[in-house]
Amino acid sequence: MEILVTGGAGFIGSAVVRALAAAGHGVRVLDALLPAVHPSGRAPDLPSDVTFCHGDVRDAAAVEETLAGVDAVCHQAAMVGLGLDLDDAPAYAGCNDLGTAVLLAAMARTGVRHLVLAGSMVVYGEGRYRCAEHGDVAPGPRRPADLDAGRFEPPCPVCGTTLAPGLVTEDAPPDPRNVYAATKLAQEHLASAWARACQGTVLTLRYHNVYGPGMPRDTPYAGVASLFRSALARGEAPRVFEDGGQRRDFVHVEDVAAANLAALAALPSRPVGSARAYNVGSGEVRTVGEMAEALAEAHGGPAPVVTGQYRLGDVRHITADSARLRTELGWRPQVPFRTGTAEFAAVVLRPD
Ligand SMILES: NC(=O)c1ccc[n+]([C@@H]2O[C@H](COP(=O)([O-])OP(=O)(O)OC[C@H]3O[C@@H](n4cnc5c(N)ncnc54)[C@H](O)[C@@H]3O)[C@@H](O)[C@H]2O)c1
Ligand SMILES: [Zn+2]
Repeated sequence: MEILVTGGAGFIGSAVVRALAAAGHGVRVLDALLPAVHPSGRAPDLPSDVTFCHGDVRDAAAVEETLAGVDAVCHQAAMVGLGLDLDDAPAYAGCNDLGTAVLLAAMARTGVRHLVLAGSMVVYGEGRYRCAEHGDVAPGPRRPADLDAGRFEPPCPVCGTTLAPGLVTEDAPPDPRNVYAATKLAQEHLASAWARACQGTVLTLRYHNVYGPGMPRDTPYAGVASLFRSALARGEAPRVFEDGGQRRDFVHVEDVAAANLAALAALPSRPVGSARAYNVGSGEVRTVGEMAEALAEAHGGPAPVVTGQYRLGDVRHITADSARLRTELGWRPQVPFRTGTAEFAAVVLRPD
């Protein structure tokens, strides 16, 4: 197949590009090399037979040019992070939603009917919780007063008691909690509308916390594993927010790349006009504190410091049930937490 990977210069996109090229596919990349992600302005080293196009997904002409002769699009390009600063909202909506709309319109014009979309677990907001009395509940946003007082667990919205966290499935109602999350959900809706209108097919991969080699350094847009790893590289202790008990599903970037290959391979056999979402998680429930400890231990210290700080817009627990991806697409995560964190603690961080 001939595949266009948007955002193919990024952390996950470049892993997808390498995996696709290694599997013998023709690959072309469209990436704007956003300065926040690529301060040097240079594209990363990609396999020599990959065509790199420096361009923006919001630029219809550039998109249409790269789509010529393409069988499927793997849409990774996005502005990532929490989107807490409202001054960033137009850039998030522009890159993520306007960019997706421009891409979809160009696919409609050029007859490209197959799309894999990089989605995110952020569309769920808080994960699933169970109250002993009220069953499955969806807690609302946590109150700053509770967070200031160190009450990090969201209470049952009905009776206020402590909840037991569970695994989120793809059918959980979306509840985006920040600008970035809202733009990731809108991408899914745009892609579904495109599929219906153009007899296209889209599979959305809702990644959980992706980590591994090639992660961006400690910018405000980087993931927590990268922040910890960067602190350790400076000889500093990883600073763990809240009490470190936030549950996450850390999934290795190579497993995420493999999920993209599985989804691209499945597209032609999917019903025309359909959209389906898949959680992409390792299935190992870990905490943010455990990630900090694992990296500090493998790196040879210093030990993490739990700060009690918090970020509004962060959720307490979000862990995935990825059974749908395993049963329908035959995907299996290959990199256990212990192996992946030990390896990530040892790699040289991305020079950019
Ligand atoms: N890293 C995670 O844990 C995680 C979790 C869930 C979802 N995702 C999603 O995965 C995808 C890849 O994220 P990543 O972590 O590799 O981020 P990244 O910032 O490393 O890569 C994104 C790439 O997209 C490019 N890009 C951004 N806006 C663009 C535009 N308008 N036109 C062209 N290129 C543009 C950037 O230059 C960058 O190279 C994103 O869609 C993101 O929302 C990531
Ligand atoms: Zn209750």
